[in-house]
Amino acid sequence: MAEVITITSGKGGVGKSTCTANIAVGLAQTGKKVVAVDFDIGLRNLDMILGLENRIVYDVIDVMEGKCNLNQALINDKKTKTLYFLPASQSKDKNILDKEKVKNLIEALKKDFDYILLDSPAGIESGFEHAIFWADRALVVVTPEVSSVRDSDRVIGIIDAKSDKARNNQEVQKHIIINRIKPELVAKGEMLSTDDVLSILALPLIGLVPEDSRVVSATNTGEPVIYTNSPSATSYKNITQRILGNNVPFEDLHQKGILNSLKRLFR
Ligand SMILES: Nc1ncnc2c1ncn2[C@@H]1O[C@H](COP(=O)(O)OP(=O)(O)OP(=O)(O)O)[C@@H](O)[C@H]1O
Ligand SMILES: [Mg+2]
Repeated sequence: MAEVITITSGKGGVGKSTCTANIAVGLAQTGKKVVAVDFDIGLRNLDMILGLENRIVYDVIDVMEGKCNLNQALINDKKTKTLYFLPASQSKDKNILDKEKVKNLIEALKKDFDYILLDSPAGIESGFEHAIFWADRALVVVTPEVSSVRDSDRVIGIIDAKSDKARNNQEVQKHIIINRIKPELVAKGEMLSTDDVLSILALPLIGLVPEDSRVVSATNTGEPVIYTNSPSATSYKNITQRILGNNVPFEDLHQKGILNSLKRLFR
């Protein structure tokens, strides 16, 4: 059965679109049929991260308004064949999404795909509400900063109150991804640790992603970082496996530095 996974956050700019792109590739690489949908109306950039911006003809609003059919708007990735992408429109009107039309779209996608990944916009306006409404599972991306963690707490409350599942007395599965971890700062006590974040949010962890300069270069070249062998690629692959229900140990990001490796040798 198809699963709708919404990637969301409290604060903007914490890495939702990057996570969406990489997890979409990761799931598709396992042979699952995956569609990544950009709900960030007006500010699309998931297309850039996936390297598909030059192939956009129609967008999600065109589909909803009947200007084209779904297959005309879906872009099939050339490298990972079971990955599809549905771009956001560049409309300035953020309230253009209509509940009934979004419902029809999600139902149509559910017939055809194993995983539907919804990349939600920053903030808690219209696009966000539509993206969380249909979630079976929400991946809440935080960076290890107090402001990011606090704002995501609010978002978690909204998911519990306003999703379709909540309205039917069911629960949306929620997981935390901690992104842009700088182990050396955590070690110095200058950045929240994983335990700090989890004690505030009290939700299960599904991913730890280190700060990784390759993320930026990957966006510039339009090839998601998961295709490389950089540390964040391993993190995204592991998140993918955990979504599939496989028990993968968490990366030991806090122990990485040279000093720590030496300490381990002398233990
Ligand atoms: N693990 C990482 N290491 C280094 N840079 C990262 C990492 N994750 C994301 N970034 C960078 O952070 C910036 C924001 O990422 P992204 O666009 O994915 O965030 P977002 O939450 O989707 O933002 P918005 O709320 O505006 O939609 C980008 O420049 C991206 O390259
Ligand atoms: Mg984004």
